[in-house]
Amino acid sequence: MELRNQEEDAKRETPADARCCQTCRLTIRVVIAVAATILVSGLIWCFVLFATWPAAPEVDQTSRTSGEEMMTERLQQCQKQRHDVDLMLHAATQDSRCSLCPDGWRWWRSRCYFFSVELQEDRRWNESAEFCLQHNSSLAVIKDSAEMEFIQSVMGKFPHLPFMWIGLTDAKQEGQWLWLDGTDIQHYMAGTVEWDADHRDCADLRGGGSLFASSCEAYGPWACKRDS
Ligand SMILES: *[C@@H]1O[C@H](CO)[C@@H](O)[C@H](O)[C@H]1NC(C)=O
Ligand SMILES: *[C@@H]1O[C@H](CO)[C@@H](O)[C@H](O)[C@H]1NC(C)=O
Repeated sequence: MELRNQEEDAKRETPADARCCQTCRLTIRVVIAVAATILVSGLIWCFVLFATWPAAPEVDQTSRTSGEEMMTERLQQCQKQRHDVDLMLHAATQDSRCSLCPDGWRWWRSRCYFFSVELQEDRRWNESAEFCLQHNSSLAVIKDSAEMEFIQSVMGKFPHLPFMWIGLTDAKQEGQWLWLDGTDIQHYMAGTVEWDADHRDCADLRGGGSLFASSCEAYGPWACKRDS
């Protein structure tokens, strides 16, 4: 269902939408810059206040009290400013067109990931790869242990997820496992594929980051990855 919606959305996207999205991203950048400036100047201001406040130990009790009141007031001002900045950021980032990834995709370190487990639909490896291609992405090529941890953390949210197709296969030459970007399995991280056999040419990812060879004809969930 969600998938169909995404495809329709993609078809509906016009140059005007694209322009709008660009404007949107620009707006976010400006808002973040303004917010950062306000926060930094607020911090400097608070720092100056704290640094100068107890500078006159010989002041009498009344002026100390009024000093405290002034401090409280300014602190409240600082907090209010922070609250306004939060609201501003929240408002600017709520527009779905401003989101860096399409609906239903997860953003991680400037990439977007799609986990089909949310679709409740299983596909063969080649059909999974085809799905990713249609969404301008590819079956996930995992490039370091941080990325592996991220993917594992998502898998952990679905305790009944047995495995997931990723972009690793030895279909071209038996025993030579290649990522979909053409690099050898050992190129990014040390790793081996368990249970390798002639008729098992597609790699599936399981808990703990382990990789198993499966029949490419098996049906399963999959993970796509693309630039955001
Ligand atoms: C995937 O492979 C199956 C058989 O192995 C084939 O029938 C099907 O057309 C392929 N699908 C795609 C999208 O390549
Ligand atoms: C994929 O990219 C093409 C060209 O940039 C674009 O026209 C199309 O809408 C994109 N499709 C999706 C599903 O994002």
